[in-house]
Amino acid sequence: MMKAIAAVNLADYIGKGGELLYAIKEDMRYFATVTKGKTLVMGRNTLLSLPGGTGLKGRVNVVLSRSMSEEEATVRGATVVRDVKGLFAYLSQRTISLEDTYVIGGGEIYSLLLPYCDTLYITRILREDVGDTRFPMIPMDFILTEGEVRESDGISYRFDRYDRVR
Ligand SMILES: NC(=O)c1ccc[n+]([C@@H]2O[C@H](COP(=O)([O-])OP(=O)(O)OC[C@H]3O[C@@H](n4cnc5c(N)ncnc54)[C@H](OP(=O)(O)O)[C@@H]3O)[C@@H](O)[C@H]2O)c1
Repeated sequence: MMKAIAAVNLADYIGKGGELLYAIKEDMRYFATVTKGKTLVMGRNTLLSLPGGTGLKGRVNVVLSRSMSEEEATVRGATVVRDVKGLFAYLSQRTISLEDTYVIGGGEIYSLLLPYCDTLYITRILREDVGDTRFPMIPMDFILTEGEVRESDGISYRFDRYDRVR
């Protein structure tokens, strides 16, 4: 099974206007540590929202898109796959284990791939700001291990972890 990592507020929002809702430096560092050397799977909107609109260095970047050309994906430092089947074919062909594969968003892609994830690294931001993109409902077969409450620039958050129990 794959893993997912996301920064999600108490109202389940993850983004607004194509951008993140919060810029928490410690969370960026946490994301970099957890995903270093791993394979990242993201939607086209998320790839375009990254700095320079390119994949993250030191990681294999895979973008799900029906519209982006292979050439454009390459220029953006990513490999494009057209659907879930294409994603699994790519991972298998490159002998990349699902355990080392992280779903990094956005809303559409978390919804699409949550059924294939067994571990969720959720930075829970303890605020209720309204955005336009949400993390899907986390099914009941995940158990939550809450992190301690931290604070950065007046924003409280926790590094939570959800594990699928079945
Ligand atoms: N807080 C967080 O942790 C976090 C993380 C990531 C992103 N975000 C935020 O989330 C927002 C972006 O999320 P989003 O839902 O708008 O977009 P997204 O999930 O990043 O990308 C959506 C695109 O992915 C492609 N796609 C979706 N389903 C597909 C499928 N079954 N097969 C092939 N391609 C598929 C489509 O591209 P085509 O149209 O090209 O087919 C679709 O337009 C931004 O605000 C971003 O900042 C937040």
